Amino acid sequence: MRNGPDLGTALRARTATRHAARVSYDVAAVRACFPALRAGAAHFDGPGGSQVPESVAAAVAATLTSPIANRGRVTQAERTADDVVLAARQAIADLVAGDPGGVVFGRSTTQLTYDLSRTLSAGWGPGDEVVVTRLDHDANVRPWVQAAAARGATVRWAEFDPATGELAPEAVGRVLSDRTRLVAVTGASNLIGTRPDVAAISALAHDAGALTHVDGVHLTAHAAVDVRALGADLYACSPYKFLGPHLGCVVADPALLGRLHPDKLLPSTDAVPERFELGTLPYELLAGTTAAVDFLAGLGGLAGRAGDGGPESDRRARLEAGMAALEEHEDRLRERIEDGVRALPGVTVWSRAARRTPTLLLTFDGRDAADAYRFLAERGVNAPAGSFYAIEASRHLGLGDTGGLRVGLAPYNDDEDVDRLLAGLGEWLDG
Ligand SMILES: Cc1ncc(COP(=O)(O)O)c(C=O)c1O
Repeated sequence: MRNGPDLGTALRARTATRHAARVSYDVAAVRACFPALRAGAAHFDGPGGSQVPESVAAAVAATLTSPIANRGRVTQAERTADDVVLAARQAIADLVAGDPGGVVFGRSTTQLTYDLSRTLSAGWGPGDEVVVTRLDHDANVRPWVQAAAARGATVRWAEFDPATGELAPEAVGRVLSDRTRLVAVTGASNLIGTRPDVAAISALAHDAGALTHVDGVHLTAHAAVDVRALGADLYACSPYKFLGPHLGCVVADPALLGRLHPDKLLPSTDAVPERFELGTLPYELLAGTTAAVDFLAGLGGLAGRAGDGGPESDRRARLEAGMAALEEHEDRLRERIEDGVRALPGVTVWSRAARRTPTLLLTFDGRDAADAYRFLAERGVNAPAGSFYAIEASRHLGLGDTGGLRVGLAPYNDDEDVDRLLAGLGEWLDG
């Protein structure tokens, strides 16, 4: 496969004359890196899964076409596999400020959460409690509810305020006790974008002697994450939501992982984090994951290369700058969409929390959001309708299992996409 345009090179050239702005966001340069955009659709379906830059696809293809074997250090083919795994652990660690020795890869966040719930709940019994929230995607609810049921433990629900979309730390505090073993909470809602104060929630959980499992699948695509600052004992994210391939990962302190004993095959290693990774890892997807993290690190235009020396060679610092630039870009477009839909008749915007991602849930007086979804799709505007597995949140908002129209932004969205969305919605509402 041909190597795609290099975002770093493109941005370095464009920002050379604008060095006063240390952090910049050049959406045209970003868009040029995404072959899928050439098909012409405006993608507001990023919260379901993002489009992929050519550099990610190239890394996947290069790994598949290189000599490769199972991980080892004897043959070059073994070393390639080993290096790919270690590089991906480091990339995810840089992305969320975690420890590469505590990065576990798996098929998806759902699968990893189920695995962890079985392992962690092995020590639970009657009288123990687990806290889940009404705001979360079901992937961070049902595995814990089912694990608790299997052990006779009690589930306690933290409710968010349907009027504001906020999940207050006090709402979690109210359901904590000295028997709470784990608090499962989202970093950001994939339905309405709410970003709860996870650091405050974790502090309360830790005071009660509980672990936190933070679902960062939606959050990681939109903000610079620091798992220690969040107080997340276990932090899950899925690279296909942040420009990478389809897999999931969990980040934890290796010392915590060392105290857990998942089911595993007899001959497979007992080392951490490998003991949590069942079977052979998808090396090509791990290489794509590293490329996705590198792409995010270039978003701010601070495109230093590893080995350049100085702060710009620090991928973590570039990620923080890149994600800050992205957040500013996405917030600006989100505000444009909010202003635009407010001017349309009969539209309700359910995303209201003070801190939130650029993910909006819309419903329409007397009209079915699924019709809007189909109408927009015919015009090349992809904004799906549903409750997106955040089924408890959708029901709590009074939207049943139907939900609404979800409009989510991603690094490649631009003003023209927003124009097309608003024009399409206006036309549909007129019709
Ligand atoms: C917030 C959130 N959590 C968890 C998941 C599940 O992730 P995966 O598909 O990797 O299991 C999703 C997927 O949409 C999500 O948006």
